Amino acid sequence: MWSLSLLACIPSLKPGDTGDTGDTRTPDLEDPGPELPGHDDCLPPGERMTDEVCLAVVEEDGRPAGTSYDRSGVDAPDPDVRIDDPDLAWLTAEVERCTCVCCHRTSYGGPGAYFWDLDFGPVWLDSASGWSLEVFSGLRESENQQLPSEDLARVQEIVGAELDRRDEARRAR
Ligand code: HEC
Repeated sequence: MWSLSLLACIPSLKPGDTGDTGDTRTPDLEDPGPELPGHDDCLPPGERMTDEVCLAVVEEDGRPAGTSYDRSGVDAPDPDVRIDDPDLAWLTAEVERCTCVCCHRTSYGGPGAYFWDLDFGPVWLDSASGWSLEVFSGLRESENQQLPSEDLARVQEIVGAELDRRDEARRAR
């Protein structure tokens, strides 16, 4: 499990080394800054990646910001019952505790927001194509684009319901 270690900046002492060598120079090391989480890292449930960490992740990635748009291909339901769906709130929180959120949010300038964007409203699922949702939920295999959730079955259920909704809306046209 990754944890943000601010202690990384403090030079460590070896056992038996008091640090008192009479040398008062500060070590000539470049400050590595706070340790950044890896692509697939997540904080424990209930926590969320901070703005500071995400902005640093996006800066390090260096790719240009993406712009999201509606990729669902169908109209949203009216009224949109998904907005207050506790399952959607749960899924959003699952994303927000993982590094994924950093690159998939336009407000962070995330380069992946072009494919799905947590800032897209009112329901961010609409910013993802069916293909991307399948990849995201592991219904379609990928290298490292599957949400590292401990309850993948629930992720797939929520995504499956959205894919069904789109299919039905397409058929009803
Ligand atoms: C460092 C930035 C970054 C992080 C972190 C990141 N992504 Fe992405 N993601 C991108 C970019 C950029 C794309 C656009 C395609 C590409 O260049 O790979 C993308 C595309 C995707 C897609 C669309 C794939 C498709 O073929 O339609 C999915 C799904 C996805 N990411 C899931 C995730 C998940 C899940 C995580 C967390 C485990 C994650 N991403 C973390 C930048 C990121």
